Amino acid sequence: MSLQRYRELLEELEQKHRLTKQEYEELLMCRFSTVEPGTQQKMDQELFEKARRTQQQVFGKKIYIRGLIEFTNYCRNNCYYCGIRRDNQKVERYRLTEEQIFNCCVEGYALGYRTFVLQGGEDAYFTDQRICAIVNRIKSKFPDCAVTLSIGERSRESYELFLRAGTDRYLLRHETADEMHYSQLHPAELSLKRRKQCLKDLKELGYQVGAGFMVGTPGQTFKHLAEDLEFLQELQPHMIGIGPFISHKDTPFAREPNGSVEETLFLLGVLRLSFPKAMLPATTALGTLAGDGRERGILAGANVIMPNLSPIAVREQYSLYDNKICTGEESAQCFQCIRNRVESIGYEIVVERGDYPG
Ligand code: 5AD
Ligand code: FES
Repeated sequence: MSLQRYRELLEELEQKHRLTKQEYEELLMCRFSTVEPGTQQKMDQELFEKARRTQQQVFGKKIYIRGLIEFTNYCRNNCYYCGIRRDNQKVERYRLTEEQIFNCCVEGYALGYRTFVLQGGEDAYFTDQRICAIVNRIKSKFPDCAVTLSIGERSRESYELFLRAGTDRYLLRHETADEMHYSQLHPAELSLKRRKQCLKDLKELGYQVGAGFMVGTPGQTFKHLAEDLEFLQELQPHMIGIGPFISHKDTPFAREPNGSVEETLFLLGVLRLSFPKAMLPATTALGTLAGDGRERGILAGANVIMPNLSPIAVREQYSLYDNKICTGEESAQCFQCIRNRVESIGYEIVVERGDYPG
């Protein structure tokens, strides 16, 4: 019975690339209330096959890489889940200089990266002027590359300045689209309304925009996930980043259980069918919870990987969650490692910017 309904919903999703919120919730319930392992497997297989078909119709076997530069772990915010939250006194804080950031790009370019993602906590040291100077320098030296910023909530005016400095894309996960749930993950000074406004501004200004959420955060229900999917349908972002929640020992969520790999993979499949052209990373968090997590992410519909390009000396300090992988590897090692992994499942890394198609 529930397998039959599951198949109906999958068919509809594959055809129309959208379900209603109620249907998304039903799809999740069909899959995750099934206890028979054989049926679970069948359900996943059928979803992932469809997701790969869609993925390959749009992108072939190409996997896009983004060089991730974690340039500051100072953060003014205090999100309950995040290891670099301001109240965590145990983190050793660091900031990369413009020179260091630029050098990461030089190294990355030689390896074949054509997108650089500058990610950091919400750090007041990096004023609009400083950010613009960095972006400008990267874009002048590497005009064939895309620059993505992932530096949190700023004013529309700031976003406009970054765009004029040459920034191409902006990542700002919405984390959860449910008001109540948002307030369970964040202190009162942060609001979902503000977050959504930022995403709207970014989109209107003409960025390629990335939203996304964590899977398995404390208090998350299928209803919340269905709301996330509905919100994404409304926003129509160009990129969607999802990964399992992983607890960090020095946060209020230290004792909360991690999110599940299976649920994350399932949602990647659902996202691929819902957003055929979206750039969907197989995230480091997924690779942290399962040794083959990123490969399985690609096989569930993801088409992007974001290896670490940060200087090895600071990697340990950018720990949003415990046991993060790649903190002991050089950028060149991560690049090779990723290439091997991608090729082992029959896909190929391409030396391209990897813009949103069409
Ligand atoms: N587990 C998994 N992902 C996390 N992030 C932050 N903290 C955690 C955690 N404990 C994610 C958030 C953020 C992105 C940069 O990292 O979704 O947007
Ligand atoms: Fe960094 Fe595998 S991606 S070591």
